Amino acid sequence: MERSATEGSPAADWWRQAVVYQVYPRSFADSNGDGLGDLRGIISRVPYLAALGIDAVWLSPFYPSALTDGGYDVDDYRDVDPQLGSLADFDEMAARLHERGIKVMVDIVPNHTSSRHAWFREALAAPKGSPVRDRYIFRDGLGPDGSTPPSDWTAMFGGPVWTRVPDGQWYLHLFTAEQPDLNWENREVRDDFLTTLRFWSDRGADGFRVDVAHGLAKNLAEPLEPLPAADHLTGLADPPGRHPLWDRDEVHDIYAEWRRVFDEYDPPRAGVAEAWVHPSRRPRYASPDGLGQAFNFDLLEANWRAEEFLRVITDSLAEAQRHGASTTWVLSNHDVVRHASRYGLPAGDHRMSTLNAKPWLLSNGTSPELDRALGLRRARAATLLMLALPGSAYLYQGEELGLHEVADLPAELLQDPVFSRSGGAEKGRDGCRVPLPWSPDGLSFGFGAGAAHLPQPAWFGPLSVQAQEHDPASTLVMYRQALGWRRRLRTAESLEWVPGGDGQVLHFSRPGGWQSVTNFGSLAVPLPHGTVLVASALLADGQLPPDTTAWILGSQ
Ligand code: GLC
Repeated sequence: MERSATEGSPAADWWRQAVVYQVYPRSFADSNGDGLGDLRGIISRVPYLAALGIDAVWLSPFYPSALTDGGYDVDDYRDVDPQLGSLADFDEMAARLHERGIKVMVDIVPNHTSSRHAWFREALAAPKGSPVRDRYIFRDGLGPDGSTPPSDWTAMFGGPVWTRVPDGQWYLHLFTAEQPDLNWENREVRDDFLTTLRFWSDRGADGFRVDVAHGLAKNLAEPLEPLPAADHLTGLADPPGRHPLWDRDEVHDIYAEWRRVFDEYDPPRAGVAEAWVHPSRRPRYASPDGLGQAFNFDLLEANWRAEEFLRVITDSLAEAQRHGASTTWVLSNHDVVRHASRYGLPAGDHRMSTLNAKPWLLSNGTSPELDRALGLRRARAATLLMLALPGSAYLYQGEELGLHEVADLPAELLQDPVFSRSGGAEKGRDGCRVPLPWSPDGLSFGFGAGAAHLPQPAWFGPLSVQAQEHDPASTLVMYRQALGWRRRLRTAESLEWVPGGDGQVLHFSRPGGWQSVTNFGSLAVPLPHGTVLVASALLADGQLPPDTTAWILGSQ
């Protein structure tokens, strides 16, 4: 029998309207002064997270890793990187967060292991055709001596997807060569991940963020198919679900098994899929028989324009209503240019906001010119709008400080493989992963006792937590106020548009009299009647200035 996502107890449905804060552990807080953030650093900042008013924390990978891809190259799924702490630290962190009512979501990376994983080392040591190689995707090459890769497919970060091993075979990796793809047709692989899900659930994980959830099932029948011309990130294939590498229908058999494990727990463990797929394909990942929730990146890809936001919100809510899962919203994460910077750059074509920022990044933030104040003003307005929407919201560490992207990191310090694998054609994602500033000065602005593993710019000081905490006009205080009100006003997952404005104003109400109004235009407009609860910029004379959102309580 199909289950309905709208049923279920409030305890089981905590994720439906949760605010989830993403911690990138290596850049959050460093407890031992080695320059790298760690779990004890997170423990020390639990009061901060509680004061912020979030419902859950999602931790990017903290597993042992060579950090070829920021920790998304996992050596061991059931351990903590000794540089970040220990399993005992994880237990303590989960306990401290739970004490404050904050749930814990762990990042699971099932598409690939790292090349240092015991299984991959075994696979390399074993002869061709051995069952231990079958946990990965090994193939013979083409041509008389097998020296031509099995296909001409290109990896996500550039370069070929195939790497040759000394005995002449090739293995597949959709990302870097240090991230060999697992063979999800192998029962042992499937079982091992079920063990991992139980391992973290038993230790107190409340849910899982599933990395590259649309990549696990692949069609590797020979001859290997050429890739469709469509952007392979989107998984857009014709007919849908038939792309050889992305978003294949069979992937959902895997998540049906995961769901059965989630449901062994009370409350059931939650899941959220990172699936860069066409919106029409998203509900499958968010199905109550699957992971339950999926990231919706449409808002993140929209430009700061009323019509784009309106379209994304309307479509996403309609889709959520059709399928019963709640919508997710996200404006920033560890893979994209921070939204304060995106909105301060000239708008691009429809759905190109993130791509548009890449040339700017490549120019070390010089061209086109970033309007920092405008970007932040819009980012605050966008966040406030997002937090008023039904569904769950994902925040990325540092956005609550109004941080911009650090665009001028010198090439020799870049850690993201995107830079080297693209031959410098893309600068990569380090600029949003620079360690957080906690105090206005110090070697790493309070991140740790020593210097940070990526250099922080001087402008981080005035944006530090300490500098903002008591400033009523600061971004941090706005986030705290908004999250406090959101918790108090939490209501049914519905929204009604309030007509008015000239296409430049998005105004909606939620049950119980909570209204949000955003002015995308260039002229101030009258504020709706009612009490202003929180605003993203200073209001005066009953007007809502340009690039501003306000929450109002009262009748329309
Ligand atoms: C996901 C992660 C990203 C990582 C990639 C490969 O997209 O968010 O950071 O590089 O997967 O694991």
